[in-house]
Amino acid sequence: MSKTKAGIINVTGYAGVELARLLYRHPEVEITSVTGRSAAGQKLAAVFPHLADIDLTITAELGEVDVAFSALPHKESAKECIPLLKQGIKVVDISADFRLKDAADYPKWYGFTHPAPELLKEAVFGLPELYRSQIAAARLIANPGCYPTGAILALAPALKAGIIEPDIIIDSKSGVSGAGRTLSLGTHYSEVNEDVSAYSLEGHRHLPEISQELALLRPGPTPSVTFVPHLIPMTRGILTTAYARLSPGTIASGEKGQAELTGIYRDFYKGESFVKVAAASPHTKHTWGNNLCIVYPSLDIRQNRLIAISAIDNLVKGAAGQAIQNMNLMCGFPETTGLEGLAVYP
Ligand SMILES: NC(=O)c1ccc[n+]([C@@H]2O[C@H](COP(=O)([O-])OP(=O)(O)OC[C@H]3O[C@@H](n4cnc5c(N)ncnc54)[C@H](OP(=O)(O)O)[C@@H]3O)[C@@H](O)[C@H]2O)c1
Repeated sequence: MSKTKAGIINVTGYAGVELARLLYRHPEVEITSVTGRSAAGQKLAAVFPHLADIDLTITAELGEVDVAFSALPHKESAKECIPLLKQGIKVVDISADFRLKDAADYPKWYGFTHPAPELLKEAVFGLPELYRSQIAAARLIANPGCYPTGAILALAPALKAGIIEPDIIIDSKSGVSGAGRTLSLGTHYSEVNEDVSAYSLEGHRHLPEISQELALLRPGPTPSVTFVPHLIPMTRGILTTAYARLSPGTIASGEKGQAELTGIYRDFYKGESFVKVAAASPHTKHTWGNNLCIVYPSLDIRQNRLIAISAIDNLVKGAAGQAIQNMNLMCGFPETTGLEGLAVYP
């Protein structure tokens, strides 16, 4: 049987080039087209020597494909995805352009008026652990943001089980590749090395996405969420620590409570290939280069709080790997196909 033809729009960014690395080994897929504004006309392997075995020329326009991944910046991505959908091509958009359900959020958080608000209703939020059957039937996937992936997966079992109060603090620490490949002063080596800083305290763009999805997990009042991202001197990875007070009477105290909590998380993620409930706090290195999200739920017994920790690789489960997981579901391939690689350690 012929392979599914896949195209990557904007292979010259970090998310796009990670897609090329992972898709190259996918047994059901052939990468037939890669685009990139600054490198059009050049060989992919010449621009990215680690992709030496892929014989493709980067073009300005996407060629004929069955499924397209867009790794463009927001606003630009929607412009490219809309015509592809009209041509009957399945689309996985890695940008934020179809993640928010309310079109009014786009001018507010992203500074542009959405060009196709009707598609926001249709687009499926591509977190397979929550929306697997909808993803399988979709033609447009809004691949989740990197911070939202870690935060939502850390909190989903607790919210669904109704064991936490709807007042949540999320503290996330990201490696520098989360900011992309575009040059900027804030990501220069000498600015980032031996430095840790919080940013976007006035409201990060991923906040509405996190709030939207957490609200859908829990009946009753919309959870109030404080989200503070931090930049830390590493290349890949996001460690998220989320805090919420336990609802009275829902979890036993002490060791019995910890066992109950672990049980709730293990039941929720039972059978999941890419979310593992750990028995100790995970390290970002445990997910470096692979599609895992490792979650560790724990109790602050003294303060009666949940502390839920997650680790992901922002470019894999937070971007390209999750996009392939979604494509596998959309195309009817086993969900783990092409994503079996283990993390690199140390
Ligand atoms: N990095 C992550 O961890 C991550 C995770 C999840 C989602 N995402 C999303 O994935 C998308 C790509 O992110 P990234 O981190 O891969 O970005 P990136 O490495 O900064 O890539 C951005 C590239 O986009 C191209 N570009 C910039 N402005 C453009 C425009 N107006 N029109 C066309 N191309 C333009 C540039 O390539 P040329 O120089 O070739 O023009 C630039 O190198 C974004 O929407 C981002 O939010 C990223």
